[in-house]
Order: sequence, then structure tokens, then C-alpha cells
Amino acid sequence: MTQLDLTNDELLSTTRAVRKRLDFDRPVEKDVLMECMALALQAPSGSNVQGWHFLFVTDPARRKAVADVYRNLFNNVYAGSPMAASAQHADDPTMKATQERVMASAQYLADNMHRAPVLFIPCISGRVDQVTGEMANVGQASTFGSIIPAAWSFMLAARARGLGTCWTTIHLMQERAVAEILGIPYEEVTQVALVPVAYTKGTDFKPGPRRSMDGIIHFENW
Ligand SMILES: Cc1cc2nc3c(=O)[nH]c(=O)nc-3n(C[C@H](O)[C@H](O)[C@H](O)COP(=O)(O)O)c2cc1C
Repeated sequence: MTQLDLTNDELLSTTRAVRKRLDFDRPVEKDVLMECMALALQAPSGSNVQGWHFLFVTDPARRKAVADVYRNLFNNVYAGSPMAASAQHADDPTMKATQERVMASAQYLADNMHRAPVLFIPCISGRVDQVTGEMANVGQASTFGSIIPAAWSFMLAARARGLGTCWTTIHLMQERAVAEILGIPYEEVTQVALVPVAYTKGTDFKPGPRRSMDGIIHFENW
């Protein structure tokens, strides 16, 4: 597949959460998804277990059913809650406009998720919801750490090929409902995200606003 003319640094600094610029009308070829997957599978996994699974949903009825779960949770649980993007960085007035933009963009995606030609759901074998105590962190970090790098590699490879993606997690509030829609064995497999995939409208994206390095990077001691 043709790749955009991006340097490595441009790829890493311009792979954005794309929502309003997803082209819902342009089909996404299976070949390009598989090319991105071949790269994604080069990601690390704990003890080299490679217990990952990747679900691509293109059937319109299934996409709608999943998007309905997402939109319902977005509107009725997330939007007015302390989790919402609009409630973040409350102590920093310079971030207000950014967070309002993120919230408006997220609302647009919630309203239109069903229109994305592909919904991508990275999954990992096993569940860690019941692990408590001192083993909880190693269990969770190793489990999520064995799928999220692969999923992000997929998203970077997709951007290199003109595709846009957006990491989302809101549907996980009703993970079981989506597992039932898609036949995912909930007791054995953990979903980690729901990622719309579509070609982007235009391919120029800029680095996003980020907190300064001061105060978040520590050398030698915290
Ligand atoms: C763990 C995680 C969960 C996220 N969940 C959602 C979500 O449910 N819905 C959504 O629209 N965006 C979601 N996002 C996207 C973030 O809003 C986005 O990464 C952030 O605003 C930075 O965007 P930018 O890279 O375009 O600047 C999520 C991102 C991460 C890493």
C-alpha cells in the first residue's frame, strides 16, 4: 500500500486521535489492515506469550450494535461525569479551549461511531479484574502491556498509510454487552479498546498540545 511521505519523527508526533476527519464514505481495504497487523505483531509481549487477538468489525449491523452501546454510555454515563475530557485540567485555564475541543470531537465520534467503515477491537487472553493485592499491578501491567504496544503499532502503521484512528475505552463499562454482540468469550478474553479506523480527510496533522516536560520527567530521584 502507498505510504505517506512522513519521517519517523513526523509519524510519531502526528498520530492523533482522529474523529471529525474520519472519511466514513471511503472503504478501507482488508489488505491495508493486514499490512498494519503484520507490523503490529512485531510488538513485545510478556514472556513472549503473544496471547493477543484482534477483531475487525465491518458488518454494518454489528457496527451499529457496538456503536449503540458506545453512544449510550457516552451520553448517559461519561459526558456529565468527572471522567469527561471537559472536566480535566480544571486548574489550568490555558487548557480550557483544548479540553472543550476534545469533548466536542468526542461527542461527534459518539454520534457517528457506527459510520466508521472498520471498528478495531484489540483483545488479550485472560482477565485481571479479579486480581487483588500485591499481584494486582504486575498482573494488570503485564496483561495490558502485552496488547497495548501492538495496538498502538497498528495505529502508527495505519497513520503511515493515510488511515486515522482513535483509541476509545468507554464501551468497556459494558464490555460484556459488546462481547455478546461479537461472540467474544468474555470469561477468557479481555477487550482493551474500541478503535474506529477510516481514511482521513486530508493527511496533514500537527503535534498536539501537551503538558511541558517540567515536573513530569524525573532523573535519578522523583
Ligand atoms: C486510555 C485512553 C482512553 C481513551 N478513551 C477515549 C474515548 O473513550 N473516547 C474518545 O473519543 N477518545 C478517547 N481517548 C482519546 C483521547 O481523548 C486522546 O488520546 C487525547 O485527547 C489526545 O488526543 P491527541 O493525540 O489528538 O492530542 C482515549 C485515549 C486513551 C489513551
